[in-house]
Amino acid sequence: MRAIVFEQFGGPEVLQVQQVDEPHAGPGQLRIAVKAAAVNPLDFKIRNGWFEAFMPTTFPAVPGSEVAGVVDEVGAGVTEFAVGDEVVGWAQGGSYADYAIAGLVVKKPADVSWEQAVALPIAGETAARVLRELGVKEGETLLLHGAAGGVGSVAIQLAVALGVTVIGTASEANHDFVRSLGAIPILYGEGLVDRVKAVAPQGVDAVFDSAGQGALPDSIELRGGTDRVITIADMGAADLGVTFSMESSSPEVTTAGLIEQLQLAADGKLTLTVAKTFGLEDARTAQEISETGHIRGKLVLLP
Ligand SMILES: NC(=O)c1ccc[n+]([C@@H]2O[C@H](COP(=O)([O-])OP(=O)(O)OC[C@H]3O[C@@H](n4cnc5c(N)ncnc54)[C@H](OP(=O)(O)O)[C@@H]3O)[C@@H](O)[C@H]2O)c1
Repeated sequence: MRAIVFEQFGGPEVLQVQQVDEPHAGPGQLRIAVKAAAVNPLDFKIRNGWFEAFMPTTFPAVPGSEVAGVVDEVGAGVTEFAVGDEVVGWAQGGSYADYAIAGLVVKKPADVSWEQAVALPIAGETAARVLRELGVKEGETLLLHGAAGGVGSVAIQLAVALGVTVIGTASEANHDFVRSLGAIPILYGEGLVDRVKAVAPQGVDAVFDSAGQGALPDSIELRGGTDRVITIADMGAADLGVTFSMESSSPEVTTAGLIEQLQLAADGKLTLTVAKTFGLEDARTAQEISETGHIRGKLVLLP
């Protein structure tokens, strides 16, 4: 089968299209014929070797943690899924390939396309987890950094559905998009504190930083402390006393959340935005674009 493989850390050029042996479903496992694989910032961070302390890489490595596709092999002992099921979720051992071994997956509603479905697992789990950890509730105001990204675009909608007023930071080019999802868009960068105060004279009850681009000091000032300020991307969080959320929810919570969010998407109540799709052979370009850090929604490979 075709797979994107890297055998050393480095820039996008280390990604190669290779013919490799197909994986097979062992006991308790599913093999998926991949229809869509999402490109996440995590993928270029791993490729650059930045995540070795948390997630050591074994070479040769295939990138990709999210997958949507059709079950085409079922290992011994699997009863919940059958060959032909359309599923979406996490992959083990990489998803930038023609076939992948499933991690945690659920059945995909027919009304959600492959590329939309694959945009959801990480963004949905992360957004729901952080909103839960922040404890935001109806009537409160949330400042969300990185509102136009994969995580941010889902977080806006989940928070608005809770009755929360969301102020979302984004570049000017993404303001209409952020507004269309239900948030009040504002520019990031110098003068942020004044801009937030202008649109939220009532103050900010919580801050969700999904950008990791240095807005934590302003966020602490706006909140009046580090309480209810959470980042998923700013590696300087600990020095500022801010919580870095990283641990995924339990498998039960994750599965239930993904099923619920897929249904919201199928019902037209959750918009999943795909910025651009690529063929498998263009994975390098997709990661280059991901690394620019200005994605609206999700980048997706369609092998
Ligand atoms: N800890 C965890 O559990 C966890 C889970 C998932 C993701 N993450 C991390 O969270 C981050 C976001 O992930 P993602 O998938 O949403 O990324 P993404 O889709 O690449 O989106 C990044 C977004 O950040 C915005 N942005 C860039 N500079 C900004 C700034 N200075 N202030 C505010 N927004 C800015 C961009 O919007 P503009 O184009 O408008 O600038 C873009 O929409 C990544 O670092 C990822 O690795 C962590």
